Amino acid sequence: MSAAPAVEARALVKRYGRITAVDHVDLTVKAGDVYGYLGPNGAGKTTTLRMMLGLITPDAGTVKLFGRDPLVDGVRALDGVAGFVEAPRFYPYLNGRKNLELVAALDGGDAASRIDAALDTVELADRARDKVGGYSHGMRQRLGLAGALLRDPRLLILDEPATGLDPGGMRDMRLLIRRLADQGMTVLLSSHLMAEVEELCDRVVIISSGRVRYEGALDELIATTAGRYELRTTDDERAQQIAAAQRGIGDLERDARGLTFAAGERAATALSIALGEAGVGIAALVPRTATLEELFFRMTEEAPAGDLAPAGVSNDRRSATTDRHTPRAEEEVRA
Ligand SMILES: Nc1ncnc2c1ncn2[C@@H]1O[C@H](COP(=O)(O)OP(=O)(O)OP(=O)(O)O)[C@@H](O)[C@H]1O
Ligand SMILES: [Mg+2]
Repeated sequence: MSAAPAVEARALVKRYGRITAVDHVDLTVKAGDVYGYLGPNGAGKTTTLRMMLGLITPDAGTVKLFGRDPLVDGVRALDGVAGFVEAPRFYPYLNGRKNLELVAALDGGDAASRIDAALDTVELADRARDKVGGYSHGMRQRLGLAGALLRDPRLLILDEPATGLDPGGMRDMRLLIRRLADQGMTVLLSSHLMAEVEELCDRVVIISSGRVRYEGALDELIATTAGRYELRTTDDERAQQIAAAQRGIGDLERDARGLTFAAGERAATALSIALGEAGVGIAALVPRTATLEELFFRMTEEAPAGDLAPAGVSNDRRSATTDRHTPRAEEEVRA
């Protein structure tokens, strides 16, 4: 086993006409990570994942999977890698098991021997004899995951796996991904669902308009907002005056819910004493960290509106593939 990262993208660029869908993206997914690829609609998530899976060619930069570049090493680079982008595709008039059998036949090796286990893992064993045409969206997503699992992957690449599912379906999908990660699978998942990423991922990259706004540990990102406090007292007006006069307290704001301010721990403690001495009771004094959602909006809303450029004005390279017509199209990938 190589010590190379599971995914290593360097200065990755993909352009569609005037739109730079992916603009010099750098990211590293280490083996064992559950890595979140976050961004609003049109940010470039799917395009990046397509390049990782060797489905489209970067205009510049490189992407390596366990040290191998799909452009240089061909299908061997996808050894141990599975996943799907956008939605998995299946033959609707065949049942779930039959579809997996076809996938397994194309994968070769001992993929077929894993069908039962994969159906169990995604909890579709009891619906495996039903036609996929009658499956719900959530069931199709799970069948897509089962298809990926036939390859016994070390790296699973999933494009918004829980989008469009109901709350129960989302929870099941999260639990499933968590279980796979606990078994040692490296997971790269794109999402615009903050709760999903906060719950599942240790590391994240946040992109908008194709550009990386943050890459690194999720808790470090959240910690960058530490140092802000919320304060509720028996007399907020008086508390505001006291806080305003106190050294080390900045960015003081007051609304109906109370006060917020920026301070170190020492200044916050000193304020609590000053309030007590002034006869102002403290109902709550709590350090406040931004949620990932707040951070996400802060980072992505500063971005230029490149992704609002009119769709379809580009030299659409999709036409160069057999996209959307067969289950073996680029939505669903195996080496
Ligand atoms: N084949 C293509 N032809 C033309 N433009 C494309 C093509 N693929 C992607 N784009 C453009 O590239 C940009 C990024 O698209 P992409 O699908 O990667 O975004 P995304 O982050 O996956 O969005 P979503 O959350 O909506 O799935 C968009 O502006 C999109 O219109
Ligand atoms: Mg997408």
